[in-house]
Amino acid sequence: MTETDSRPRVVLGVGGGIAAYKACEVLRRLTESGHDVRVVPTEAALRFVGAATFEALSGNPVHTEVFADVPEVPHVRIGQHADLVLVVPATADLLAKAAHGLADDLLTNTLLTARCPVLMAPAMHTEMWEHPATRANVATLRERGVVVTEPASGRLTGVDTGKGRLADPAELVDLARLLLVRPDALPRDMAGLRVVVSAGGTREPLDPVRYLGNRSSGKQGYALARTAVQRGAQVTLVSAHTVSLAEPAGAELVRAGTAEELREAVHKAAEGADVVVMAAAVADFRPVSRAAHKIKKTGRDPDPVALTRNPDVLAELVAARAAGQVIVGFAAETGDSTGDVLEHARAKLRRKGCDLLVVNAVGEGKAFEMEDNAGWLLSADGSERAIALGSKSRMASDIWDAVVAFIEA
Ligand code: CTP
Repeated sequence: MTETDSRPRVVLGVGGGIAAYKACEVLRRLTESGHDVRVVPTEAALRFVGAATFEALSGNPVHTEVFADVPEVPHVRIGQHADLVLVVPATADLLAKAAHGLADDLLTNTLLTARCPVLMAPAMHTEMWEHPATRANVATLRERGVVVTEPASGRLTGVDTGKGRLADPAELVDLARLLLVRPDALPRDMAGLRVVVSAGGTREPLDPVRYLGNRSSGKQGYALARTAVQRGAQVTLVSAHTVSLAEPAGAELVRAGTAEELREAVHKAAEGADVVVMAAAVADFRPVSRAAHKIKKTGRDPDPVALTRNPDVLAELVAARAAGQVIVGFAAETGDSTGDVLEHARAKLRRKGCDLLVVNAVGEGKAFEMEDNAGWLLSADGSERAIALGSKSRMASDIWDAVVAFIEA
């Protein structure tokens, strides 16, 4: 970590839990994406992963206590100079120390001196996560602006399963990078809201091995689900086909294959929901019939595939919605001889009747399968604003800002 180094400076705190090994994956992803990472483990963390591993992966020295390199005053400097402090895993003990301002090692000192965003990713057994002491500590930290991620549910150490698994390293890195570009991106302003997000592309089968699909990666919908969870919402993610993506920890994940399955899942989840966001690329058409067996080559020309319309889920949601439910649609537009991207989008907003429309310009090298996205946000009240090019999580944050403003208006 030198003063002339322009890379974002991340302090990676590592707590003493078995998930400490996953901190190595977080570290590798951060360094590979151009971050200068200083690892500050607790003494207990080094019983799970050796200092040499953290030093080799980060290229920086690793200490646990405040009496190493004393002339450099590391217990103050490391926190002061950080652009982000990320704690992976945050044990129940570390959360308690952070909530109460204890400072008995280098990491807890760093947490007290840091003035940058702090992201803590808990991992512990379900009983510890649910204990009133931990609940109170998490609430205190969140009130102070610390982003404490929701743990995932699943296999824990030993034979146990339940809530308490560390969120996926890819997800944690994504959230960390979001906070580096927008430190205020994850306020707890969606607490109490029930949110449904659809994501990915539907697949309409022709036979048991073939389908009509589209190029949607699902990344934007997953980013919406992930950021809504961290803003405090209760989230159901209805996911059609996606590229390989980390499941957003803390969201309920419902899988759907075809447009019909997605339609059913979204309608079910939308009952009583405050916000529904249709980010999925739903096939407008499906084959009229689905062959029970694989369609074989024959000597003659193949029959053309007859298609029929799928229902428009977004339009159905608008028609069926309860008072106060906010509905957000997506539009992927290219512009043509009859109008540009925005003209088409304005017409789509009127046609679909939703409250907000997120507009992406698509085409060669834009939006689909890309890491970054740009576009516009059109509101039924006539307001329009551009969304600058940024990560899909950043765009998700802008969308939630608009949704929260729409609800409060
Ligand atoms: N959508 C939907 N059900 C469909 C098709 C689309 O709910 N059968 C939703 C998408 O999730 C998205 C929005 O409608 O939120 C816009 O989809 P798009 O395909 O871009 O618009 P279309 O209405 O199909 O218009 P066009 O094909 O003319 O661009």
